[in-house]
Amino acid sequence: MYTIELATKLADRVYEYWIRAPQVAEHARAGQFVILRLHEKGERIPLTISAVRGDTVRVIFMTVGKTTEELATLGAGDSISDVVGPLGKPSEIENYGTCCVIGGGVGIASTPLIAKELKEAGNHVIGIIGARNADLLILEDEMEEICDEFYITTDDGSKGVHGFAADVLKKLLEERKIDRVWIIGPAIMMKVTSGATVPYGVKTYVSLNPIMVDGTGMCGSCRVTVAGETKFACVDGPEFDAHQVDFAELMQRQRIYTTQEKESLERFAE
Ligand code: FES
Repeated sequence: MYTIELATKLADRVYEYWIRAPQVAEHARAGQFVILRLHEKGERIPLTISAVRGDTVRVIFMTVGKTTEELATLGAGDSISDVVGPLGKPSEIENYGTCCVIGGGVGIASTPLIAKELKEAGNHVIGIIGARNADLLILEDEMEEICDEFYITTDDGSKGVHGFAADVLKKLLEERKIDRVWIIGPAIMMKVTSGATVPYGVKTYVSLNPIMVDGTGMCGSCRVTVAGETKFACVDGPEFDAHQVDFAELMQRQRIYTTQEKESLERFAE
């Protein structure tokens, strides 16, 4: 069993859990994830490793369905049946020069570890985090502390730049050379934002979030198309070259079980 050491609500429907998982913590690198199963009959869900402290790992999640709603009922001292990881390939961290790390919505959860490792590798790190409004922003202080430059955007202008992360990125690209970009957020946000780097030929990574089951390359549920080839996000990714990703297919596959997910959530709520 894996104990939740600390549980905090960060924003509306967004929770931060520090889970004691020594073996995961020992090997975790930026860009990797864990798969949780709450109990023997539970569904398996992938969550990015957002930070590591001692023998605990941090995950941040939004309640979007039955399992995340159930997870949100737990608190400090409660246990989770299985925490498998670290899974997936780590981010390709090197000293590139100037790197931009962008998080949208709950995808911001992935940014501190990537920014931290890029910084430790000697990069000048620019952080951009964006959300619909100020209340939904998370990890502002943490990202501000890690990054050399830091920007906030909100769709409604309630904090930081009024607009999208893509707007700030476009401005930065016009002004200076950026060597690598990471974007983590909803599929549509990653698609739109990564479009900004195409004219500049800047290598851009996105962390894909298809439906996963086993997380070890066995079931095929996480298949995505990258550069015309089928890849399994759990073992070949989750990070891929944004300019090669078939986002339309990703978004279509994310919706496959919408009806069943809705029914399951309704049954849980009864
Ligand atoms: Fe099953 Fe990736 S989740 S192959």
